[in-house]
Amino acid sequence: MKQFFNKTLKKLSLHSVCLASLTIALPAVAADQASFVLDVSQTGAKINKNIYGQFTEHLGRGIYEGIWVGEDSSIPNTKGYRNDVLQALKALHVPVMRWPGGCFADEYHWRDGIGDRDSRPIRVNSNWGGVEESNQFGTHEFFEFAELVGSETYLNVNLGTGTAKEMAQWLEYMTSTNNSSLAQERRANGRDKPFKIDYLTIGNEAWGCGGNMTPEFYSHLYNQYATFAKTYNGTVPVFVASGGTGDDTSWTDVLSQNKKAKMDAISFHYYTLPTNDWNAKGKSITFPESEWHSTMINTLKMEKFIQDNIAVLDKNDPEGEIGFYVDEWGAWYDVEADHNPGFLYQQNTIRDAVIAASNFNIFHQYAERVHMTNIAQMVNVLQAMILTDKEKMLLTPTYHAFKMYVPFQDATQLELKTEQMAYETFEGETYPLVSASAAKAKDGKTYVALVNLSAKDDVEVNVDLKGQNASRAQGQLLTAKQMNSFNSFDEPERVKPVAFKSKIRSGKLAIKLPAHSVLVVQLK
Ligand code: AHR
Repeated sequence: MKQFFNKTLKKLSLHSVCLASLTIALPAVAADQASFVLDVSQTGAKINKNIYGQFTEHLGRGIYEGIWVGEDSSIPNTKGYRNDVLQALKALHVPVMRWPGGCFADEYHWRDGIGDRDSRPIRVNSNWGGVEESNQFGTHEFFEFAELVGSETYLNVNLGTGTAKEMAQWLEYMTSTNNSSLAQERRANGRDKPFKIDYLTIGNEAWGCGGNMTPEFYSHLYNQYATFAKTYNGTVPVFVASGGTGDDTSWTDVLSQNKKAKMDAISFHYYTLPTNDWNAKGKSITFPESEWHSTMINTLKMEKFIQDNIAVLDKNDPEGEIGFYVDEWGAWYDVEADHNPGFLYQQNTIRDAVIAASNFNIFHQYAERVHMTNIAQMVNVLQAMILTDKEKMLLTPTYHAFKMYVPFQDATQLELKTEQMAYETFEGETYPLVSASAAKAKDGKTYVALVNLSAKDDVEVNVDLKGQNASRAQGQLLTAKQMNSFNSFDEPERVKPVAFKSKIRSGKLAIKLPAHSVLVVQLK
């Protein structure tokens, strides 16, 4: 069932008064419409490139097979990292990557992952399928991989089963430039130059897998660990406290009030489940239209969660010194049949591209506080950019959405006001059919992103341009035949962006935005 925003209702009723006297019959319902006013003279916050951050955990085939195949693999690789994945990630301009977890981080002991690979211990990955963890991918491999991709590093240290001493020694090992035994050990393991840790978080989901703690208890531990988290290479990472989830703002509140040690940001996790039921989350491909709607409703909750947490930060940190990092987000579906349930492998459809882009638009809007987000996860796990099957690799619709939004990295927000909006209603809840965002990119050009959240209907979108003389909009459109179209290893290019061009007449961009689509255009 469709609804229209107030202004549309007013317009429709005016039409019917005039038409009543002429007794001409018009269709009762107009086509879905949304209209915006873009004022390029009204600039806002910088959209931090790290909003397009990634997350990779020792989970399923995320790292092993997905990134690391080892130097002796028949899969083409550079020093053990698969070439196809490296190339795809470089094209994505991945600004930052978080490692080694997730829940895994709170059971990770760094000494297991250094030194001669043949001598590294085999542990049990107790969080994710109880499989063997070979530790072939460790500290050196992570930093080398980030360097190859050209990404900054975000390290998650162990609070749950580690100690402040273990963390402090790991940091010394990675960053020391002098002749301390730990620095010499790093050199003996093949790395003279210290590693650069750009971002550092202490513990993960302390409210759950990270130790079932209260925010008060964790905040004391955070202050203790952060006090001893020293680096020795002349650069100090951005310090992140591990925060809450969903509609619970108590973590942001307690952490920001109890801040005694360095704390530059508080993190937050929220996953989109179609059903809201962790035991039967919903399928990645074979989902009914009702789950399209519930997924859209659930993913858009991100905005309210961010608003609520920002309100708490505005109260406790009015100077805006503490950032808000959504360092895990994305869609979480039932694991694909015939896959280890602990591996969280799921397919990815055009629905996922719509989810990703709608979230980008939300993150842009709150860019003043939201300085980083990390989708879960980069390869083969949850809402992945890339899926691999032995030597085969495919790019998911989510990958394409990330790539289309690259111009928004470090761009400046532009004011985009909604004048009219069509809504979908499902089980008493409504959601807008179009999500939009506009920014001035680093190259000085204006970009507009429009997302059609409808499962089936095209929407007529009008953007009124103020302060910009442009004659055309040019960019890329990502859509698909069906709401559940996806890329498979047999047909890896079924869903991919196509070139898009539209004329701008009298300062107005008028587009028919196809159902379930993502459009990013530059105004020329
Ligand atoms: O991303 C998968 C898991 O989800 C992470 O390990 C954990 O932090 C979250 O619960």
